[in-house]
Amino acid sequence: MNSNHRTYVSNILVIGSGAAGMRAAIAGHEAGKDTVIVGKRTRRDAHTVLAAGGINAALGTVDPEDSWQQHFVDTLKEGYFLSDPRTVELMAREAPTAIEELVAYGVDFAKTPDGEIDQRYFGAHKYRRTAYVGDSTGRAVLYGLADRVEELDIPIHENQYVSRLLVKDGVCFGAMSFNLLSGERTVYLADAVVLAAGGHTRLWRRSSSRALENTGDGMYLALAAGGEIADMELVQFHPTGMVAPESMLGTLVTEAVRGEGGRLYNADGERYMGRYDAERMELSTRDRVALANYTEIQEGRGGPNGGVFLDISHRSLDYIMEKLPRMYQQFMDAQNIDISKEPMEVAPTAHYTMGGVVVEPDTHATSIAGLYAAGETTSGLHGANRLGGNSLAETVVFGRRAGEAAVAFSQNLGAQVRANDVVRIAHDDLNNIVRTGTESAIDLLQTLRNVMWETCGVVRTEEKMQYGLERMEDLKVALTRANVSTEMELAQALDLRASIVSAEATLRGAIERRESRGAHQRTDYPDVDDNLNVNFVTRFDENSNQVISTQSVPPVPNSLLEWLTEEEFEIEGRLLE
Ligand code: FUM
Repeated sequence: MNSNHRTYVSNILVIGSGAAGMRAAIAGHEAGKDTVIVGKRTRRDAHTVLAAGGINAALGTVDPEDSWQQHFVDTLKEGYFLSDPRTVELMAREAPTAIEELVAYGVDFAKTPDGEIDQRYFGAHKYRRTAYVGDSTGRAVLYGLADRVEELDIPIHENQYVSRLLVKDGVCFGAMSFNLLSGERTVYLADAVVLAAGGHTRLWRRSSSRALENTGDGMYLALAAGGEIADMELVQFHPTGMVAPESMLGTLVTEAVRGEGGRLYNADGERYMGRYDAERMELSTRDRVALANYTEIQEGRGGPNGGVFLDISHRSLDYIMEKLPRMYQQFMDAQNIDISKEPMEVAPTAHYTMGGVVVEPDTHATSIAGLYAAGETTSGLHGANRLGGNSLAETVVFGRRAGEAAVAFSQNLGAQVRANDVVRIAHDDLNNIVRTGTESAIDLLQTLRNVMWETCGVVRTEEKMQYGLERMEDLKVALTRANVSTEMELAQALDLRASIVSAEATLRGAIERRESRGAHQRTDYPDVDDNLNVNFVTRFDENSNQVISTQSVPPVPNSLLEWLTEEEFEIEGRLLE
């Protein structure tokens, strides 16, 4: 049995090298703490690079009437009131400062002719408040943060797969990790840990995530360590993912295409959004546009590849090259289609985990002492329908907050926790997975993705989800027969373990949520049920069985109540046609 490892000691360990992790690490280092980042991929290749259309902040540069309070209202309302109001308030209040920081790190946002940061329209926002860098905003944000991390000399350990958090008597003191290339194990010892390991939308066959990312491992790590996750059933399906070629199934076609005037048509040539949201049309809420696209396809009005058509060809090539250069290249490379001349065929794709690890809003502390979380791994901000552009804002606002809280924890720590028995268990956990077997974890992951797409996709029923749960039991058994001899097979087996747990939590929550609300649509319960204005919280019992309970959503503070009573807003004149 292998029990060899290197040891790496720091004050703060950040798990995840996306925007939330990078921002947390900057906060840790700037407060004088030894900080290290570990990531599964290479440093500038975390999932954040795929975020396309923009980052929200009520800057008021284009629509001066905008305010952080209105951003708060739009987010809370469009999340169908399942978000934690305090979390929403902090994001809306602090996003403008976060943009200033990003500018200081060198992020070159698109500008208005007056030299102000430009803001584009994204679905269901009252005002234009999405700042952007063409259609590669995530990459620009991540590169800006990575530049700052490198300037500060914060170490980034790449190709590290974290298999377990180290927890003794309710206190987190590090993590077990192995190198994906060499297999070498490292025990990371730290005063405090920030978990920023992404979401779980790679669990669906059509997904805007790549292999080995967003496999639910962040949620698994927290649960296995004794933490809680919530609202896993609240999964955002982006209305527009690619439908061909197979290798690019689900790849994001940014909402910025619609923000820049793109129109949706079915195979009959009908601009159908008028039947679903006559006022906001293509810039309706994401859940509504996704459901509209899904319905058009299901009812037989889809195209040759089972999608609907997104058309921006009324814009000039120059305009498209300025605002949507990546989309132009993506369709040219993948399908030899010039989007300034032809429409794109698209369909809904699993895009964002709106639930996740339960955190306290201000500090993003989890229920485990010394463990903080930030970004897509967490729950609380988005409710039942995330507004496009709020995810990048979330990463930088709460990455900083989680990092600062980790600093405070480190500063106040009386004695560092170390426990060899816990490290031994982490070794055993890995050793027990390595075996000669007959199943392939990568094939089983593919099976899981098909099951989730078929049983817990855009539209759900109890019968299908119960079947999905049964299939998860089969997969648990199959996992015990997986052949694991290489580092990659070990990572795949661990991904499978995390994915099964996350899928089960999703299915259980989705069965329990007997209503249709936002992105959670059930044909057997088609209406919103006001009794379900609650969050579903999942934890492990002593046998690692999932236990689900309900928790009330905290009330909106009095100071913000009046903002919620505003009349529905007029968007005429703001949509680009
Ligand atoms: O469509 C997009 O560009 C995605 C943005 C987001 O998910 O926030």
